[in-house]
Amino acid sequence: MQVTVLVSGTGSNLRSLVERARSYKISSVITNNPESLGAKWATSEGIATNVVARNTYSSKSHFIDTLLQTVSSTKPDVVVLAGFMVILPPVFIDSFPNRIINIHPSLLPSYPGLNTHQRAIDAGDTRHGCSVHIVDSGVDTGPILAQSAVDVFVDDTASTLAARTLLAEHILFPWVLNAWCSGDIQYNSGSVTYSELVAREANMNGFLLNSQQSV
Ligand code: GRF
Repeated sequence: MQVTVLVSGTGSNLRSLVERARSYKISSVITNNPESLGAKWATSEGIATNVVARNTYSSKSHFIDTLLQTVSSTKPDVVVLAGFMVILPPVFIDSFPNRIINIHPSLLPSYPGLNTHQRAIDAGDTRHGCSVHIVDSGVDTGPILAQSAVDVFVDDTASTLAARTLLAEHILFPWVLNAWCSGDIQYNSGSVTYSELVAREANMNGFLLNSQQSV
């Protein structure tokens, strides 16, 4: 499976996805941010990298059209959003139906959008985490494939909680992507299904699977 990763920032998830790839190959990286450390790292690793920066285009729609053309030209089996800070419109999402996968730093459906760690602390949550989900036309609303929880401690700040959550992301995301690309996690007719192997692995790792699972 050929995977194209879209990244805006540091790219620590991108690195983890590259290092733990078994059933997929990250053949392209695309960024909207010319300063993205993740994209720079990908270039240094010899991964084909493209920059599509918003300020190069006169309108948002021209930017999105170019982004779509650039992603399409890489012929991805799966498009992965790994800290990609652009909300993709339906025209983009509909071009890769159920083939765009995102990681979000909260236990969805709690805290879609930004500032998830601070919001969890403000709410007095004792458990937080991350979710890998299929992208639909809403913001962080698509079908959840798997989640990983972390504790919230009384003295946590948004940054200590973000760091703990990020470590969980680095394990969860490549695990889900490997399982997705090997067919061990599937999404059909509105349901997420898991192979027995993956259900066992999830149990061993403490990952949470979508409640619609049928094993
Ligand atoms: C991660 O927390 C991811 O969940 C969120 O943005 C952050 C990206 O971090 N969407 P990195 O660039 O992978 O280090």
